[in-house]
Amino acid sequence: MSSPSSPGALLEAHDLTRSFSVSQGLFEGRRILHAVNGVSLSIAKGEVLCIVGESGCGKSTLARMLLGLLPPSAGAIAFGGEDVRRLGRLGMARRVQPVFQDPYSSLNPRRTVASIVALPLAVQGIGSSAERRKRALDILDKVGLPKRFADRYPRELSGGQRQRVAIARALILNPDVVICDEPTSALDVSVQSQILNLLGDLRRELGLTYVFISHNLVVVEHIATRVAVMYLGRIVELTGTATLFRAPRHPYTRALLASVLTPEPRAGIPDTGLGLAFPDPLDPPPGCPFHPRCPSRMPHCATVTPPLRQDESGLVACHLYEPRTAAPTVVA
Ligand SMILES: Nc1ncnc2c1ncn2[C@@H]1O[C@H](COP(=O)(O)OP(=O)(O)OP(=O)(O)O)[C@@H](O)[C@H]1O
Ligand SMILES: [Mg+2]
Repeated sequence: MSSPSSPGALLEAHDLTRSFSVSQGLFEGRRILHAVNGVSLSIAKGEVLCIVGESGCGKSTLARMLLGLLPPSAGAIAFGGEDVRRLGRLGMARRVQPVFQDPYSSLNPRRTVASIVALPLAVQGIGSSAERRKRALDILDKVGLPKRFADRYPRELSGGQRQRVAIARALILNPDVVICDEPTSALDVSVQSQILNLLGDLRRELGLTYVFISHNLVVVEHIATRVAVMYLGRIVELTGTATLFRAPRHPYTRALLASVLTPEPRAGIPDTGLGLAFPDPLDPPPGCPFHPRCPSRMPHCATVTPPLRQDESGLVACHLYEPRTAAPTVVA
């Protein structure tokens, strides 16, 4: 590990970076896109860490790395203080499980509900097929799906019921951490709160820890213990939920929160009133990546990247909050 573990941390990311080589078209060659750029996080047991930010800022890429589904280009991930490369793919799957946005595409249409839910046990070589089915029925009961659903196929279920199946599959290995990537945004509004309540109940009952990605800031305020705000692959603010919603500090966070009151809750985070569109991630602005849209920018914001600094209110990457005496730090 490049840096020491925080005491009590369950899941940690150290300077995590993921880039993609992106084709520019037939005659243009390829360019490097930094989807996640030097993210460090520490998630304690029982927390609900919400990740917010505009479409394309790197939330899902970060989630896929934390799940062990996508190797980082640089940096490291630790679970319980141990580098996850030592745990391996199967070891990681026992500890960290996903619930994705779209329960229509994430469930195999040719398998029954019971066999979908039991599959992680089979992959890990746990139990006989009768034992696996028994555990699948038990966990289906826990997520509110009666036994009669066990031998049905995903196409015979509603969206909310399918998401319950996905949650049951995520829980069957008794993971410590569940990473939810917009788990309710594909569902009808009336069903969304049922699924959120279920996730809350399961967290209390099973002592789960969540990393929760959502565009819905009303939901985030309701469920998060801490919130990480991402912009162009970086965390720009990370603090306790009450503090963040009461006194957002980064100008980008302030703009995001101002968007809560717009009338289209399912249209993703709408125009934040920032004027310019989200910048091209292939050509990020120099200095602070937010400076072209920032209403509080100062001259050096265009040249000096503000580091993520800890102070008494939380973490923020903005020159407005730098100690007056410190010289600005240039981050390559
Ligand atoms: N496999 C890939 N190849 C190339 N670029 C990718 C790949 N996956 C993601 N990206 C790019 O990385 C950036 C971050 O994408 P990501 O899906 O993590 O964003 P996001 O914050 O989850 O967005 P959304 O809110 O729309 O789900 C985007 O610019 C995206 O186009
Ligand atoms: Mg995403």
